[in-house]
Amino acid sequence: MSTPREPIIKIRNLHFHYNSESENPIHALRGIDLDIYPGDYLVIVGHNGSGKSTLAKNLNVLLRPTEGDIWVKGMNTHDPANTLPIRSTVGMVFQIPDNQIVATIVEEDVAFGPENLGVPDDELRERVDWALGVVDMLDYRLRPPHRLSAGQKQRVAIAGVMAMKPEVLILDESTAMLDPEGRNDVLRAVRQLNEEGVTVIAITHFMHEAAEGNRVIVMEAGRIVMEGTPREVFAHVEELRDLQLDVPQTTQLAYYLNKRDSTFPPDLLLVDEVVDEVERRVGERRGAL
Ligand SMILES: Nc1ncnc2c1ncn2[C@@H]1O[C@H](COP(=O)(O)OP(=O)(O)OP(=O)(O)O)[C@@H](O)[C@H]1O
Ligand SMILES: [Mg+2]
Repeated sequence: MSTPREPIIKIRNLHFHYNSESENPIHALRGIDLDIYPGDYLVIVGHNGSGKSTLAKNLNVLLRPTEGDIWVKGMNTHDPANTLPIRSTVGMVFQIPDNQIVATIVEEDVAFGPENLGVPDDELRERVDWALGVVDMLDYRLRPPHRLSAGQKQRVAIAGVMAMKPEVLILDESTAMLDPEGRNDVLRAVRQLNEEGVTVIAITHFMHEAAEGNRVIVMEAGRIVMEGTPREVFAHVEELRDLQLDVPQTTQLAYYLNKRDSTFPPDLLLVDEVVDEVERRVGERRGAL
């Protein structure tokens, strides 16, 4: 029997209000309970305004719970003494790269985070090279970041967080501004980091990206309304549609094929799985002729 793992992040009864002192506070999170384990690749999906970013910001202490608790490696986010150690554990990449650029030269920008964590010079250089290589931006290392395209800026921002080697990497729609190729590069890099043991929390509107994770949670109006493996969650095509969410195109195709022929498995997720199933059926039919 394996020993029970300790969650790296533990969330209990998390509520968050914006403008809590005002007459019309916004109740953005309404009782979240969640354990995230080391090595998880957790994908968060949900309609606009469902609370995904608010949840992410609570995880690296940009916001603190109005009610309830979050522990990162046992450190409660309510305690100000824990803020810095939590921020060096949980790195976050946002959607809009402009807000994240701090230096006038790309490599200095990437070095900024790890330098602040006190990483020594030799290692710093190594990390900057590695992170710029991962996002394919080594050729731009001496350029001014403000002259780069939005997608290139986003790669630099991602490199900056990766160079801090956080144990938990949060990506809040970080690939939204990239073209499909750039998105794939980043996804590949994130997958590689996850394979090396980094815990990943990815917020996305791209449902096929959700298939990357080992766990998916679906948020709606400040609550977690579905949770499971991608296969389990995306099997609920109709419920997801009610939440105005898509499913990956592969799942949609399998779903429609299952409606036509109930022997077709409705919960296929990967392109190869659908192709294999169709080929198998074509083979069977040929054999029967
Ligand atoms: N700074 C803020 N001040 C007041 N209300 C806010 C603020 N940021 C978010 N909200 C509100 O809190 C709720 C949750 O917003 P949040 O940004 O967490 O949702 P989200 O799921 O990340 O949405 P999106 O998919 O659009 O990024 C929404 O009702 C939103 O309008
Ligand atoms: Mg958001």
